[in-house]
Amino acid sequence: MSGFLLTLASLLPVALGQLVGTNMAETHPALTWSKCTGTGGTACTSTSAAVVIDSNWRWLHQGATGTTNCYTGNTWDTSICPDGKTCAANCALDGADYSGTYGITTSGNALTLKFVTTSQQKNIGSRVYLMAPGSTSAYQTFNFVNQEFTFDVDVSGLPCGLNGALYFVQMDADGGVAKSNGANKAGPKYGTGYCDAQCPRDIKFINGVANSAGWTPSPNDTNAGTGTMGTCCPEMDVWEANSMATAFTPHPCSTLGQSTCTGTACSAPNVTSGTCDQAGCDFNSYRMGVTNFFGKGMTVDTTQKITVVTQFVGNPINTIKRFYVQNGKVIANSNSTVPGVTGNSVSDSFCAAQKTAFGDTNTFSTKGGMATMSKAASAGMVLVMSIWDDHAANMLWLDAPYPPTKSASSPGVTRGACSPSSGAPTDVENNSPNSQVIFSNIKFGPIGSTFACGGLC
Ligand SMILES: *[C@@H]1O[C@H](CO)[C@@H](O)[C@H](O)[C@H]1NC(C)=O
Ligand SMILES: *[C@@H]1O[C@H](CO)[C@@H](O)[C@H](O)[C@H]1NC(C)=O
Ligand SMILES: *[C@@H]1O[C@H](CO)[C@@H](O)[C@H](O)[C@H]1NC(C)=O
Repeated sequence: MSGFLLTLASLLPVALGQLVGTNMAETHPALTWSKCTGTGGTACTSTSAAVVIDSNWRWLHQGATGTTNCYTGNTWDTSICPDGKTCAANCALDGADYSGTYGITTSGNALTLKFVTTSQQKNIGSRVYLMAPGSTSAYQTFNFVNQEFTFDVDVSGLPCGLNGALYFVQMDADGGVAKSNGANKAGPKYGTGYCDAQCPRDIKFINGVANSAGWTPSPNDTNAGTGTMGTCCPEMDVWEANSMATAFTPHPCSTLGQSTCTGTACSAPNVTSGTCDQAGCDFNSYRMGVTNFFGKGMTVDTTQKITVVTQFVGNPINTIKRFYVQNGKVIANSNSTVPGVTGNSVSDSFCAAQKTAFGDTNTFSTKGGMATMSKAASAGMVLVMSIWDDHAANMLWLDAPYPPTKSASSPGVTRGACSPSSGAPTDVENNSPNSQVIFSNIKFGPIGSTFACGGLC
């Protein structure tokens, strides 16, 4: 019986897909990080790992050794890509010149992501994932239930409109290879499988199928577009920031793990029918009333390196706490001064109070709140680091008054001191191309293990 099946299978056409291009060798930049035990950051062991750039940024060409583009600018070649499956079978993702093309470099435990890199072509931003140690077939996953995550960041080179982000998403650790039924030959080595709580539709391949069908080039982004499919998964934004503002934001989804959505069923702001909490429940010190806490020369001084500590307290997680360390001094997160909202951490009760105070719909709660975020964490999530500008909303939701339809003085509207006219991608790309973010010294372990908190915890 099995012999018969083997013979039959050998007669079927071999369905290759989402091939590996061999024009350039893929060499992942090395990055070390630490696992801690004990207390006070005194018992940490270094792990040697590496980062990989997302597949969306890569050269995608016909055949493993070919040089004809499958995708140019923001458009697919419809002769090579008449449909998503054929496209995946025809097109190959190639190796990356990390520093030359993408402005990505590492040194020891530090990762630098540059904003605009000009080589033969102009590259804007990047997104990388942490690999499992020694592996090219699996991403590192983190179960951060009742754990502490600490890193250093230099945001001094990030103006209004840019975002140097560090976050977790529940993408598949195998890059979606298993779900592709053999169609995804590239896998984590080539950075496949991204998803997040915006259910992005700009992802070129989802589980081994190209998103080329129904692709609409973006009217204002020469490198991007949207297909009919989106790819959703829970997301924990540990850090979204520039030198003007910062936020940490859990985004649960009603479906755990990666799920594919189509068209308008992908989540949208304030649409409760979507899979994920797109808005999330954010703690942004400026938005929560303390406008002199985080910024240049402020309590947390963004002209200098900052140690950022995040505690995911409880099993299941019930509270997300934040501390900063600068020049040896531990700084508690600012307390909310918004009437009706108390505290300096994120919990279900904080979110409910904040949404009420700001007149926002509590999709955080309808998508399952902290308990559902905790389930995603306990399943293990992948670490993402990125630098990006925002073609949808100019990053105003992070650092300026937003939405523009509301008065800047209405509760919750102003999120930072940036101008409502700042952050347009054309402006930041032309005026601040040399912007960069540096992430370093990642440490992970039980609560209290990654830093010396002193009397504040
Ligand atoms: C925040 O509030 C807590 C509880 O009321 C208080 O102990 C703490 O000192 C406050 N922190 C700051 C920075 O004001
Ligand atoms: C969501 O709806 C609330 C209430 O109608 C509104 O205040 C808020 O601006 C909306 N948020 C977005 C992102 O559209
Ligand atoms: C860019 O185009 C998208 C549609 O793809 C639109 O949602 C967005 O508002 C536009 N952004 C700006 C800044 O005009």
